Amino acid sequence: MSNTENRTEFGSTLGFILSAAGSAVGLGNIWKFPGKAYACGGGAFLIVYLIMVAVIGTTVMMAEFTIGRKTHKGAVGALRELNSKFAWIGGLGVLTGFIILCYYCQVGGWAMYYIVAYITDVQTVWADPMAYFLNMLGANGFPLGAIVWAFVFLILTAFIISHGTAGIEKMSTILMPVLFVLLIGLMIRSCTLPGADEGLKYMLHVDFSTINGTAILTALGQAFFSLSLGMGVMITYASYLSREDNLVSNTAIVCTLDTLVALFAGFMIIPAVFATGIAPGMGGAFGFATLAGVFMAIPGGQFIGMIFYFLLFFAAITSSTSILEGCVAFLNEEKGIDRKKALVGLSVILFIIGVLYTLSQAFMNLKGIWISRNGIEFPIFGDFLEYLTDRLLLPLGAFFTTFFVGWIWGPDNSIQEATGEGRNKFALAPAYKFIVKFIDPIAIGAIIIAGMVFGMAIS
Ligand code: PFF
Repeated sequence: MSNTENRTEFGSTLGFILSAAGSAVGLGNIWKFPGKAYACGGGAFLIVYLIMVAVIGTTVMMAEFTIGRKTHKGAVGALRELNSKFAWIGGLGVLTGFIILCYYCQVGGWAMYYIVAYITDVQTVWADPMAYFLNMLGANGFPLGAIVWAFVFLILTAFIISHGTAGIEKMSTILMPVLFVLLIGLMIRSCTLPGADEGLKYMLHVDFSTINGTAILTALGQAFFSLSLGMGVMITYASYLSREDNLVSNTAIVCTLDTLVALFAGFMIIPAVFATGIAPGMGGAFGFATLAGVFMAIPGGQFIGMIFYFLLFFAAITSSTSILEGCVAFLNEEKGIDRKKALVGLSVILFIIGVLYTLSQAFMNLKGIWISRNGIEFPIFGDFLEYLTDRLLLPLGAFFTTFFVGWIWGPDNSIQEATGEGRNKFALAPAYKFIVKFIDPIAIGAIIIAGMVFGMAIS
């Protein structure tokens, strides 16, 4: 059953760009990227990452944008319309999105928890940053705070979605510019700290001996996660675009903005970590426990820390809304469920899973079922979900999407849509055709298989 009569559209091109960039810019850029860039060798990783974005990221995004705008349908309906045998690719994407949302809302809740902590009780956070972080996760009892804040985060996400594209557009148009300004301010502050130059050197020094299979797979998974690819979200967003919008420039702008934010975040966090001599550490604790050490050590750290968590929260909510929108569009268009009912139902299920997720982390904390990464112990479950989505499901989604465009729907149809039936220029169309047909499926497929065969370590 399909229910697409009363579809809304984005009000303006800028609104779409900021919304798509809002989806892309998220916890992936600010919470994940700096830690991965640090762990995978700094400068060399940045180069590998930039190549992944420029060659694979942009073409997968273009593929998703063209599928979405061509059909004006959410992920599943769009693929079904182009070829009914391939609707499952969209279904895989919706499922991946749902899994990501389960932990995304939790981390969004952590950001809110820390905003409040920095305003009201920063001395306790700073007294023992790691203990504070684990305490929030339930190391010493019921993790009520984490659950409540994740709930608030989820409700806010659902509230914004309840206003459709207008809600998403309005939020992104306000929050994205604020996020940019805050981030640049924090980056300048960090890079001018005494001792920050060591961190800058680390981020700019290119030593390719640090690049191994794990680093390449990490860069690829990170690129997909960061650009919101491989799960049909960009298909759904582009389905709300009108024929007048230029998909070529939109792809370039969204990829550039997302990558700039990741780089800014890297150049905000790593120099500060070096300047303060805090062991960087990795995993979920990076943006919370490790950075507490950094904020504690710099003048005005309480205020700067609070701004940072606002930033993280803005980034998270503009992304969580996009994932939830993808799931709601699926239930509405494919199952004929009323948008409001779909939203309430999904929110309840996400809340229950979220509580179980938080409690399982608390349980593992209590039982000590952790893994150790770079000296930091971390509960396994969160890592497992991240591993499953970033290492497997997102690359798989992107693989099937490019295979579909390259070999089933056909790159010429995609290019036709990208240029708005010849209305706008697409100088790189021949390169796009070649990459989407050959490079993307082969490179993504090879990296997925290598990851499975060699069982690359979590980084
Ligand atoms: N791109 C977001 C981030 O970097 O945090 C996460 C994300 C949003 C992934 C939407 C996938 C998605 F569909």
